[in-house]
Parts: sequence; C-alpha cells; structure tokens
Amino acid sequence: MSKKILISGVGLWTPEHVITNEELVDSYNAYADKYNAENAAEIDAGNVVAKPHSSAEFIQKASGIKQRYIYRKDGALDVDRMRPLIPERTDEELSHQAEIAVVAAKKALAAANKKPEDIDAVIVSCAYTQRAYPAVAIEVQHELGISGFAFDMLVACSAATFGMHRAYEMVAAGNARAVLVINPELVSPQVNYTDRDSHFIFGDVATATVVESEETANAEHVFDILSTKAVTRFSNNIRSNFGYMSRAHDADPYGADKLFHQEGRKVFKEVCPMAAEHIETHLQQHDLAPADVRRWWLHQANINMNLLIAKRLLGREATADEAPIVLDRYANTASAGSVIAFALHHDDLQRGDVGVLCSFGAGYSIGSLVVQKR
Ligand SMILES: CC(C)(COP(=O)(O)OP(=O)(O)OC[C@H]1O[C@@H](n2cnc3c(N)ncnc32)[C@H](O)[C@@H]1OP(=O)(O)O)[C@@H](O)C(=O)NCCC(=O)NCCS
Repeated sequence: MSKKILISGVGLWTPEHVITNEELVDSYNAYADKYNAENAAEIDAGNVVAKPHSSAEFIQKASGIKQRYIYRKDGALDVDRMRPLIPERTDEELSHQAEIAVVAAKKALAAANKKPEDIDAVIVSCAYTQRAYPAVAIEVQHELGISGFAFDMLVACSAATFGMHRAYEMVAAGNARAVLVINPELVSPQVNYTDRDSHFIFGDVATATVVESEETANAEHVFDILSTKAVTRFSNNIRSNFGYMSRAHDADPYGADKLFHQEGRKVFKEVCPMAAEHIETHLQQHDLAPADVRRWWLHQANINMNLLIAKRLLGREATADEAPIVLDRYANTASAGSVIAFALHHDDLQRGDVGVLCSFGAGYSIGSLVVQKR
C-alpha cells in the first residue's frame, strides 16, 4: 500500500453521573434483603435460591473497578426498580445514543482538525444499538451535516477496533477520504443490577476516532496505522440474548438471559492467552517484539487480565505509563476501553514511538492496531 492511513483525532464523552462500588453494593444488598424476605417461604422450601450479598472489597480486588459512569443514574439504584430510568424520546428528537455519539464525534473532529465536509463516512460501532433502524450512524451523520454514507456495526467488546479496521480499509481503498468511527457505549440499560456476579462490571461512555490518509491529515497528534489484525472464535461464555425474536418466542424479553451474562472465570482463562498470542503475532508482522512497544492501550475489562497479558508479553509487569489503566474509574465500557486509554494517554508519545491498541471480549473477538507516532 502506498499511502499511509492514520488515526488523526480521538474524542471522549464521559457521563456526569458516577456510581461508586459502595453505592452500588448498598443498593444491591438492600435489594437482596428485600428479595429474600419476600421469598422467605420459597427459599426455606428450597425452591428459590437466596440472593447472596455483594461486597465492594470483592469487586475492587476481583476486577480493579472502583466506580463507573452512568448516563442516567435515576432508577439504577432504586431497590424497587434496579434499572436506569431513561425517558423515551419521540422519533423527532435526537435519540439518546446519537446524542452521546455526537458529543464524542465533535471532540474527535476538533482533535483531527477536520470539518464535517472533510468526512465521507460514519461508522457507529458498539456493543448495542438502541434500535434496529434507521441506523444510529445515519442519524449522527445527519446531525453533524456529513455527506457520504453511514452504518452501524455490532461486535460487542471489539466493536471499536473492528470499526477502525473497516475505516482503515475504506480509506486505503479510496472509498472515503476520512472516516469517523464512533463508539457510543450506552450499556447501563443492559446491566442486570440484581445479579451480584455482574452488577459491577459496566459503565457508560462514548469515544470517537478519525481515520484518514496522510494526504489530508493536518492534526497535531497523528498515528500511522502500521496494520490491523482481527480474529473471532465462537463462545457462549459472554452472551446477551436480547433481540427482536423475543416477541415471537413468548419469552420474557427482559429475562436474566436477555441481559449481559458470562462465565467470568472461563473468559479470563481462555481470552488472556488468545489475546497475548494475537498481539505477539501481530507485532511479528512488523518485525517488532513486545519490548519495542512504548505504549499498550489495552481493553479495559479487568485489571488482572491486563496485568496477566502484559506479563505474558513482556515477561514482567508493565508500568502504568506503559499500559495505562482506566477501568478503575470507567469500569468495563464494552468496546470503548482501549480507546479511552488512547484518548487519555497518547499526546506524550514521541515521533517513531510504537503503540498497540487491542480489544478482546464477547464472540470471542480480538481486534488490534499497531500504530506509530508520526
Ligand atoms: C467477573 C470477574 C471479575 C469475577 O472475578 P473472579 O475472581 O473470577 O470471581 P468468581 O466469579 O470466580 O467468584 C469468586 C467468588 O466470589 C463470589 N462473587 C461474585 N461476585 C461477587 C460480588 N459482587 N461480591 C461478593 N462476592 C462475589 C462468587 O459467587 C464466588 O463465590 P464462590 O467461590 O462461593 O462460588 C472475573 O472473572 C472477570 O473479570 N473475568 C473476565 C470477564 C471479562 O472480562 N469479560 C468481558 C466482558 S466484555
């Protein structure tokens, strides 16, 4: 390929509302006590399993998460509700997901020194879109006044990197001069706040990146994409059965299996070696070793996963400067975690420094980009 393709801007929208582990656990434990009292007879008869208490210490130790941001806090901690209250908007109003996408997108455009007329395509790539159609991406495209085309992509925790892969290919093929990739990860409506195994995992956020060719780039912090690499392998260990089929199934559309659920231990054991091997192979394509990497913008699901993967790659622990952690503050933000890390920790890199953006998660899916500061 002759012309170089690069990331020229990144944008981050962070919700104003925070839920700390302590707040989350207090609410869940009150809910569990109420549930257990209401179901005491059935629990005693062995027909219903009592809800065990959650613990803030467990959450921090097992995951590294201390708090998470949430788009709308109302309702999520209400023991009589246990899900956020987000008023439905009319078809004439900007949808919730498009709203947060637009904020992140505008920041990415400003960082890339680009105007809407410089962009030829918009990809909204995330774990869930709030409706089937019209695409949220087309709504965002309209709101920003961008010509060309737009579409949505769902690749769970790897949606952001997979979206950047598509952008890279579109610019390389000459089908777009510049592509806006947006990850409005509005995940809180899918969190089961009544399940102690998973109630702490996710937070809301939106990220965006601009991918363009060197021919048009004129921003301050620009990273050549040396290449992209993706792999998927089917697994049921992280799953959400939410979908349009529920209406025909006569099933509860909001049943526990319709929300995020996982076999966390299995995910941990299976994904860590896959991700480490994936990254190593990707670097080898450029005759690079892990020791040559200045910064790792890794997926942010669990601190122990990141520590293990970095240790496998480097043979030692990575420093916070080498592999920044944002999940203590943001929790798992589905596909956006590595992009948040990139957004907050990229402008100190020097010309020639190599970095790796890598996501891993449901599917299983792993996506990586090897980049170099221009
Ligand atoms: C989810 C995760 C943090 C759980 O940590 P873990 O160390 O694996 O913990 P386990 O699930 O083995 O649970 C250990 C014990 O703590 C209990 N526990 C689970 N959640 C708890 C909570 N909130 N508070 C207190 N105890 C809890 C479990 O029930 C279990 O009890 P048991 O030993 O009596 O059965 C961890 O497995 C993980 O992050 N895995 C990777 C998942 C991932 O990245 N998914 C990607 C999503 S996109």
